[in-house]
Formats: sequence, C-alpha cells, structure tokens
Amino acid sequence: MSSQIQTIEQYLSNWARNRFTEVFPETDTSEIALDVVPSTDDSFGDYQCNAAMAAARLLKRNPRDVAKALLADTSLPDAIDRAEIAGPGFINFHLKNDWLARHLESLQSAEQLGVPGVGAGRTVVIDYSSPNIAKPMHIGHIRSTVIGNALDRLHRFLGYRVIADNHLGDWGTQFGIMILGYRNFRDETALAADPIAELERVYVKSYEQAKADESWMTAARAELVKLQQGDPENRALWKNFVDLSMGEFERIYSRLDVRFDLARGESFYNDKLPAVLAALREKGILEESEGAQIVRLDDEKLPLCIVQKSDGAANYATTDLATVKSRIDEFAPEKIVYVTDERQQLHFKQFFIIARKLGWHADLVHVWFGLMRLPEGTFSTRQGNVIKLERLLDESVSRALALVKESSPEMPPDQQQAVAEAVGIGAIKYADLSKDPQSLITFTWEKALAMNGNSAPYLQYACARIASVRDKYREQFPGRDPDEFPIVLGEAIERKLATRVARFGDIVIRAAKAYRPNVLADYLFELAQIYSTFYQNVPFLKAPEGTRESRVRLCEMVAATLRTGLSLLGIRTPERI
Ligand code: ARG
Repeated sequence: MSSQIQTIEQYLSNWARNRFTEVFPETDTSEIALDVVPSTDDSFGDYQCNAAMAAARLLKRNPRDVAKALLADTSLPDAIDRAEIAGPGFINFHLKNDWLARHLESLQSAEQLGVPGVGAGRTVVIDYSSPNIAKPMHIGHIRSTVIGNALDRLHRFLGYRVIADNHLGDWGTQFGIMILGYRNFRDETALAADPIAELERVYVKSYEQAKADESWMTAARAELVKLQQGDPENRALWKNFVDLSMGEFERIYSRLDVRFDLARGESFYNDKLPAVLAALREKGILEESEGAQIVRLDDEKLPLCIVQKSDGAANYATTDLATVKSRIDEFAPEKIVYVTDERQQLHFKQFFIIARKLGWHADLVHVWFGLMRLPEGTFSTRQGNVIKLERLLDESVSRALALVKESSPEMPPDQQQAVAEAVGIGAIKYADLSKDPQSLITFTWEKALAMNGNSAPYLQYACARIASVRDKYREQFPGRDPDEFPIVLGEAIERKLATRVARFGDIVIRAAKAYRPNVLADYLFELAQIYSTFYQNVPFLKAPEGTRESRVRLCEMVAATLRTGLSLLGIRTPERI
C-alpha cells in the first residue's frame, strides 16, 4: 500500500493544510475547508485553494492578507510552477508541465490507473434494488438498481469491503392479497405458460378488489396472519411466489451485470423483531397508543413512528431497525447506505434517529432519487407508473441494434447483437447515472441513444475509436513500444487533456463520497470532448518521432480512463461498435 500514488488534490491539500498550521498554529482548522480543488476555469490555473476566504472570518483578517501569509517565505510544492492570489483571496496553482508529464507516466504504470485505495480496511453495506416479491419491479427499482450498483462499484474500486444487499420486500401485506387472489383467480393454463405474468394479473385483480371491498381486505389480512404464524399451506405458496419472482429478478440482474453479496429479504429479520421492541422498551422510548406500540419523535419534529400495529404486526420501520442491528453485529460497517426513491425519506429519517437513540452506531445514509418521466404512455400498465422493466430493456436493445447495423454493416449478426445489448443497456443506465439523482429526469430515446451527445453510445464509441489509434500505430510501427518514450506536453490541448486524465482518482473519490455517479459521468463526457478536440487538432501518426509516441500514450490513457470509468458505472465497452 505504501507504493500508492497520491492524487493531486490529496497532495496539494496536504501541503495547504500543513502550511496553514505552520502560519496560524493557534487556529482550530476543523471548521475551515482547507482543500485544494480543481479550478473552475482553466484560465485561472489548474487547482485552487479557497482556504483564505474560509479562514478570514475566523482570523478576523482580510482574506487576501491570509492568502499572502500562506504563500510568503515558503517553497511551493514540487508540482507547482507558480501560485497566484486572485480576486478576494483565491490561491491559484499552476502545475509544472514536466511534473504533470511524469505524474501521468506513473499513473499509467500503476495499478488501477493510480486511483488510491482510500477505502482499504473499511466496510460499507449498500442496500439497493430491493424490489417486492410478487409485485412487478417498477422504474423506482430499476433506478435503485442502477444507481446502487454504481455506488457499489465505485466503493469496491476504492478498496472498501462492500456488502451489497438486496433487501427484498418478501414479507409485507401484499402476501395476504396475493394468496387470496391466487386461491380465487388463478388460471392454471396461464400460470404454466407465464407464471410471473399470471401472478401479476392475480395480484392486481385481488388488490383492486381489496380496495373496493372491505371484507376482501379483512380476508387478505387473515391470510397474512396465517402465513406469519407458519401455516404450512400459506408458507408453501409464499415460498413458491418468492422463487418465481427471484427467477425473474435474476434474469434482469444478469442482463444488467448486477450481483449481490446477499439477498436478505424482510423475512430474514422476522425472528429478530421482538428484540427490537425489547431494546426500545429498555431504553424507555416505547409507548403504547391506542393498542399500538410507538416511538415519539417530537424533539426531532417528526411524526411518531409505529413499531407494532394494534393487531400485533410489526412495521416496515421495525424490520429496518432489526436489519441495522443485524448488519452492525455481523459486518461492523462504517456506513450503511440505502438507495430508494424520494417517497421514503420520512421512513429513513425516522428509523435512523431511533437507531441512534438505541446506540446502534454506523453512519446511516439515505441516498434518494427523484422520479423519472418516461415517454408518454410508453410502458404504463394497469398500475399507472408501474412499468415492465424488461420491455424497456428490450426496446433499448432493438433501437441500439439499428444503430449498430448502420455503423458496422459488415459485422457478423451475433456480434452486432452482443454490441447492441451493451449499447442498449448502457444507454438506459447512463441516461439515469448522468443526471443528478435528485433532479427530475425526462427520459427520451433521442437523448439516451444520441451518437453525439452526453450518452453511453457516444462514450462507448469514443472508447472504440481511441483504441483504434493504438492498433494503427502497431500496424505502421511494428515492434515499437511507445512507452519507451517520455510523455511530452507541448501543445496547450495536450496539456489540457493531461490535466483531465490526472483528475480521474479525485473524481472517483468525490463521486463515491457524494453518492453521485453523475460526477463521474460528467467527467467522462468532458474528457471525451477534450479528446475529440485533441484528435482533430494535432497529428498523431504523422507527428515526428517522440511526439508521436507521447500522443499515442496519451490516447491510451484516455481510453483506459474512459473504459474504467464506464465500468464503474456498470457500462460495457465493446471493442468495436
Ligand atoms: N422494498 C422496498 C420498496 O420497494 C425498498 C426497500 C429499501 N430498503 C430498506 N432497507 N428499506 O419500496
């Protein structure tokens, strides 16, 4: 681990932090952002430090004077050519060209492009996808799957031990409705032909009936109670529903390249629920109210949380509390991250606070996302917003196939199909991951599959094209190894490209820390665009020896960065498109 390369932000931030304590030894720096970050505009420099402004108030000094004091009588870090004070007190850093070139060389030969293992020795549980058994997956679950999986990949890449857990809804009230529907409405022929579709139909019919007819609802509750008390017939039905649904979910997961370490549904925690109630009682925070057991959250200005209903049944929150305890006991995670849509924010706030009151320590994080608007009417089924995920994937792949046939008509059909699968699935994932998770997204096929916009096909195509530069080099200069030549950053565009390549590690760290894969997507798109300017403006294979090899090396680094970055978003990069 000692051979790890520091990222530029780590390196400059350390310098700034040390420098600050040297100059202002008495100041408590815990409240001041001393980090050095990439410049907002290349014309200001490569990196900037805003510490002087942050510290000025605390020091009761003019920020420019603080900045001056930081730079006075000291030597700059090795990497830095010059540092300037600008505006109200920003410190702008300009990297030395030569240092940057050597840094890139070291990144190129390092493992995982030099991205440091900042998560080594740390554990994070990521709870994502988590669809409900016997109900169709909806767009909220696909978003949770895609965003959660990207967070999973980002953390693993940074060296965290990740426990990816699919917290299936396999124990809720839907089972009473389902069992009743199954007994009354099932069509054996349809069930044999397409079990999931038939279960769905039966569920929807029974659900509608329960909404309209109170006695149906009561009967459904009775079936649920029987199930929960271990009635063998209902247990067997339940098991059957779980197995059928899991088969369907797994088909989708394998298509999406998603794998879980655990798939512990709510039922796994059933026998751990009484201990939650006991712990709450012992803490003195359990109260009885109208026959139910509740926890008041008045101090937190939140509505009370029911942990046991008046009929004795536990709630969603109770299960989640049992889940927290079980995960802490088993994995000792530093963080437990939950990925769901925005409608569950209150639920998470409530049980996070209760877990804290119980003294169950882990950093609990709810990563929520907004709704996604789909093309009008495209996939809506009887349940309004509920869509058939697989149809969405199929349509994307068939649209991608049309693109591939056009761009590579000579490719054998089975290869075209494989590429279309990578492009079609990649397009759906990227359309989601490239947006701030909390913004409203309107999905359109035009944007998702745009060959020259911020889309997966654009980036996949860029990867394939860049890789071909290396192939052409090998053809024209057989037996030569560009790595034997140093990287030189002569042209402004080369330098700009190099600064971006060098930011990859910091971007991965930032995306994981903020739980925002779009930070990485934005970066990859920008990198591909700068590359394209580079490609159009300087000669490669026709450049003089030395310059040529340096450029080929830069190309390879861009290709590796795009490929690795896309893989962290769960997007495949076919050799050819
Ligand atoms: N099954 C839930 C749903 O579909 C999501 C579960 C999220 N995870 C959790 N630990 N609550 O809404």
